[in-house]
Amino acid sequence: EKGGFPHFMLKEIFEQVYSIRDTIRGRVNLEASEIFLGGISEMLPKLLQADRIIIVGCGTSWHAGLVGEYLLEELAGIPVEVEYASEFRYRNPIIREKDIVLAISQSGETADTLAAVRLAKEKGATVLGICNVVGSGIARETDAGVYTHAGPEIGVASTKAFTAQIAVLTMLALSIGHKKGLLSDEKYRNYIQELYHLPNKINEILKKDEEIQQLTLLLKDCPNAIYLGRGCQYPVALEGALKLKEISYIHAEGYPAAEMKHGPIALIDEKMPVFVIATRDTYYEKIVSNIKEVESRKGNVIALINPGDEIVKDIAQQTIEIPDTLESLSPLLTVIPLQLISYHIAVLRGCNVDMPRNLAKSVTVE
Ligand code: M6R
Repeated sequence: EKGGFPHFMLKEIFEQVYSIRDTIRGRVNLEASEIFLGGISEMLPKLLQADRIIIVGCGTSWHAGLVGEYLLEELAGIPVEVEYASEFRYRNPIIREKDIVLAISQSGETADTLAAVRLAKEKGATVLGICNVVGSGIARETDAGVYTHAGPEIGVASTKAFTAQIAVLTMLALSIGHKKGLLSDEKYRNYIQELYHLPNKINEILKKDEEIQQLTLLLKDCPNAIYLGRGCQYPVALEGALKLKEISYIHAEGYPAAEMKHGPIALIDEKMPVFVIATRDTYYEKIVSNIKEVESRKGNVIALINPGDEIVKDIAQQTIEIPDTLESLSPLLTVIPLQLISYHIAVLRGCNVDMPRNLAKSVTVE
């Protein structure tokens, strides 16, 4: 049942080559350069006119929502707010006529997310869902939605559901952006082609599993860790930190890199591993200075870089190379080594990777 892998989590990390393919299959048409999301096609007019999208979710699904905020604002020009479902539901959130509420949930049964869906409906919002489990509560109660075709996710730590959620959000943002005329035909085609070929790049990263495992030998005993990213890599940093804490019980924090100087930098010493997502994007130069700030305080920087980045290689203690891709698609790649790092550290520490203490796969309590 684990397909030859020692744990479901590792199997599910490796399955991401296929789960992303399955999620875009039948939706992304490479020849015609078109994206068609059947589940929400009737909602397209509303989406095209939306004043705002409010994304609700918990845990990893909330992180996918933060990536979605970046994608929908950047590519589709729609203002987005991302809320913890548990906060949204207990406030008296202001929902206007042209707002759309989008719930993200792997299980489709998370109590707080389901309650947020019900509240949004009561307030007259159009409510959409991105769920993995077919026929689940949230899938049933939303007005329309798109399924992630990630297949069953057994490991408590969400991996392939996260990337499938981002794949759906990417398709959504691209198709709206194109229909609104914000993305030229050429740009749209370029994104579609890159998205289509992304699973091959995931495969390239997975081939580095042994190298990544080696690197974790030096990290397994650290009591704390910090993850830094900027822009769409900031939610990836949060996700990397959550993965580490939930399965290895190491205290980890994710931060937008520029926030370091407002407090967290006081934590840096030679014992502190700092994972930095330093791919060559809009923020590259800024992130290089952030790495220098950490290095000058003797922090142990492990950086995710694009191939041939000698600048970061020179200043970071360790680097992991990630294939080049379009900036907006890169969270689908950068999260993979972070998942593997958490997995290997947890195994080295003798933790129950698939069923970490105090956690359940689906949180149906409030
Ligand atoms: O099934 P959901 O996506 O609604 O679950 C939300 C969270 O409970 C879930 O993502 C949790 O944070 C995971 N254990 C993270 O790996």
